[in-house]
Amino acid sequence: MLQGAAETVWEQVVGQWPDFSVEVVPEIDSTNSELMRRARAGQTAATLLVAERQTAGRGRLGRDWRSVGGAAPGVDSLTFSLGVALPAIDLSGLSLAVGLAVVESLHPALGLKWPNDVWLDGRKMAGILIETTAVGAQRFVVIGIGINILPRPETDLRTPPAALRDVLPDCSAASALCAVGPALAQAVQRFVESGFAAFQAGFQARDLLRGKPVQTQGGNALELRGIACGVDATGALLVHTERGVQAINSSEVSVRPLSPSPFTPPSGT
Ligand code: BTN
Repeated sequence: MLQGAAETVWEQVVGQWPDFSVEVVPEIDSTNSELMRRARAGQTAATLLVAERQTAGRGRLGRDWRSVGGAAPGVDSLTFSLGVALPAIDLSGLSLAVGLAVVESLHPALGLKWPNDVWLDGRKMAGILIETTAVGAQRFVVIGIGINILPRPETDLRTPPAALRDVLPDCSAASALCAVGPALAQAVQRFVESGFAAFQAGFQARDLLRGKPVQTQGGNALELRGIACGVDATGALLVHTERGVQAINSSEVSVRPLSPSPFTPPSGT
């Protein structure tokens, strides 16, 4: 079902990335887990691994990523990972750059909730999980992306997730893969050359938290409250608190919008 789309992605990317390959599997536990296993076994060529169905998809902060809702495999959702060996560069902000590639390649109505959730109309539509493992002097980086394609009415989540079909009625997992795959490859190459600074303005334009009261949990910013005021050149979330602007840079942090505002920041933030 996704094989044709995989070939289209490969044709678009291979010119700029000669060792790049795309592979589609009907079922796997997790595309992230599989690429991490392969890297530890010495297979480190750049690979985009697409699964029509995941049986043990993983999300951030140790959560599950469930994506099958009843339609045929490869229809409800798009699940794939890009595995790539990168030089020893600063990876801060990579997840934001990847999120930006996802939203810019799919639809203008999509926004980003720091660090890397893709939202539509106040609900999560896609998620990104980045994992790394050492391979000699290099680091093997696995960038996993899960995108809801069809709406899922029955779910145990408090807020049912959004789906790409909500804004693109004719889209499919295949069309989403054709859009996001090349954009992701290009974003990773640009990130390696220029770091997050090259994506900062683009992220600000899609930043859903900017100007909103937020509370953080976990990481280096336990229970911090304030007004989100954008991201810095490393991708750290800036929060205007009673103690001034704090930069939050841990991938272990979860941020949730608060209501009402914890305090009123000075004008101009
Ligand atoms: C999150 O929002 O918590 C991140 C979700 C990431 C899900 C994708 S689906 C493809 C890849 N394989 C996984 O097991 N997880 C990622």
